Amino acid sequence: MTGSRDPIVRLDHVSKSFGTHRVLDDVTLDIPKGTAFVLLGRSGTGKSVALRHIIGLMRPDAGRILIEGRDIGPLDARGLTEVRKHIGFLFQNAALFDSMTVGENAAFPLRRHTRLSDHEIRDRAQQKLADVGLEREFDKMPADLSGGMKKRAALARAMALDPGILLVDEPSAGLDPITSREIDELLVERKRAGTTLVVVTHNIPSARAIGDELALLHDGRLVARGTASELDRDREPLVQAFMRSQGGG
Ligand SMILES: Nc1ncnc2c1ncn2[C@@H]1O[C@H](COP(=O)(O)OP(=O)(O)OP(=O)(O)O)[C@@H](O)[C@H]1O
Ligand SMILES: [Mg+2]
Repeated sequence: MTGSRDPIVRLDHVSKSFGTHRVLDDVTLDIPKGTAFVLLGRSGTGKSVALRHIIGLMRPDAGRILIEGRDIGPLDARGLTEVRKHIGFLFQNAALFDSMTVGENAAFPLRRHTRLSDHEIRDRAQQKLADVGLEREFDKMPADLSGGMKKRAALARAMALDPGILLVDEPSAGLDPITSREIDELLVERKRAGTTLVVVTHNIPSARAIGDELALLHDGRLVARGTASELDRDREPLVQAFMRSQGGG
């Protein structure tokens, strides 16, 4: 554990159903500030749904989401926008704006949420792109980037406002192992710079590289939680199956 003990993100008895399908079933989870938390689970278990709750894109049927100790449930749209300034979100499919250049993508949160001048915005966006090794792609369109470069550009955009919390959904999906490791390294750098990471992945080598703590979501519940070596020693067959898999994606 590298961070202080204050949870910066807390799910407090959170439940969420779609129709009769209970996706999150009384999930309680604390993520200490400055640490990297990795959420594992099979496809369709609710990992993306959990991230969407943290950023207030979905509301729980029961329970609370606390960001830096503050319950976001009662917040109106404006209050939520304020909270989201402190949370970067890298979506599962990168989700760059296809009609904007890479530079405009990275600048987007700055235009939306700050009063910086055009010049300052450009400088800052350029810096964020340089941080992820895309200093030369500022004027390119997303369609002209490789999958790994798109992920990096989306990471630059997610980091534009220097958020204290970065949520990342499947950073290595569709990437080769080397590119995937490069993305992992960028995330670890962000953590060293003080950002709290919440990362969803199926990629166990990646989870080991990034995570201070890992948890496994199954049937709506967290069935295991601990460091990678603690989970390696877990006797639950499902946990063993996960920890022994080398699968990417
Ligand atoms: N907006 C929604 N409306 C209805 N059902 C939804 C909605 N969002 C998610 N679900 C359902 O919730 C379940 C969990 O979805 P989620 O996207 O969180 O899975 P996941 O763990 O991220 O899977 P993957 O690893 O494939 O990305 C799925 O059964 C999905 O169909
Ligand atoms: Mg998902």
